[in-house]
Amino acid sequence: MKRKMLLLVEDNLVLRGALKELLSMEGFSVFAASNGLEALSIMEVVLPDLIISDISMPKMNGEEFFKMVRKRSEWIAIPFIFLTAHGDDEAILMGRSLGAEDYLVKPINQDALITTVNARLKRAQELQIVQLQEAYESSLMMLANAIESRDRYTRGHVERVRDYSLMIGEQFGLEKAQLQNLRFGAILHDIGKIYVEESILRKETSLNEQDWEVIRNHPLVGVDMLKDIPYLVSTIPVVRSHHERWDGSGYPDGLKGEEIPLLARIVAVADVFDAITSDRVYKKARPLKAAYQEILDQASILFDPEVVKIFEMLWKKGDIQKIVEMLETIPKKGENSL
Ligand SMILES: [Fe+2]
Repeated sequence: MKRKMLLLVEDNLVLRGALKELLSMEGFSVFAASNGLEALSIMEVVLPDLIISDISMPKMNGEEFFKMVRKRSEWIAIPFIFLTAHGDDEAILMGRSLGAEDYLVKPINQDALITTVNARLKRAQELQIVQLQEAYESSLMMLANAIESRDRYTRGHVERVRDYSLMIGEQFGLEKAQLQNLRFGAILHDIGKIYVEESILRKETSLNEQDWEVIRNHPLVGVDMLKDIPYLVSTIPVVRSHHERWDGSGYPDGLKGEEIPLLARIVAVADVFDAITSDRVYKKARPLKAAYQEILDQASILFDPEVVKIFEMLWKKGDIQKIVEMLETIPKKGENSL
């Protein structure tokens, strides 16, 4: 693993040398500066994973240095630990009010230093992972919504299918990793529709056999799109099998009952329920209650009876309706923009 880079800013030569040695012995790469100005010039070349800085220093003190660091977007998330003199409550208050992650009081206790540095690095890494996942999900959501908008008039289909699916999955007692696969599978289930021409998706007359062939191919096109993306391969069972039906009448593989992956059986219910309640070119949306009844009527025919049972329980608790209401508050295209 790459060694973590620390930037140590301290004007006291002896203390700087001792801290540098201690941190290097712990396996960190340490860059040292004697004041804020020098530290800034190092940061132009090296991006540290964490900064430890004294407060009172010549040329540029810790407070000014901290403010300069937080001004630059690429430095804004670097954890920052202040070193303060014993009893210097004012400095501690200043550090806290500026938003520094932590402070250590001199004389520095070795164990406290190492523990604090490791804790701050760990926290920063966790935050980075969460931010990356969120950014990733938003990008996928944007793509999925763009694809869905080609054949639906009702916005929010992808979000609702994701939320219904997750709600059912949680009741099923799925593990965290499975729920994550379900989340991304639900978002991406129709990604293969990107290759279905809009003229077919928006056809007002009935579809011919050739059109159906193209449509029935979208799960396999989706699989092909995802198979080389390591982060998303685990969503493939959902993408491939979300049109399979409990009685074997679905596509593309004609799987039956429990041959159909569980996550796909869950997304199937969520997808159909939402499709019934959405406006399409060839049909108007039907009321929620009618869609709910249709799902119930198709238990053990089109859908897994266990999934339907959970869906029914969630409906009776009002949880399904809550998702609809919540997502209805998202502004529709063009509603509040110029
Ligand atoms: Fe689909």
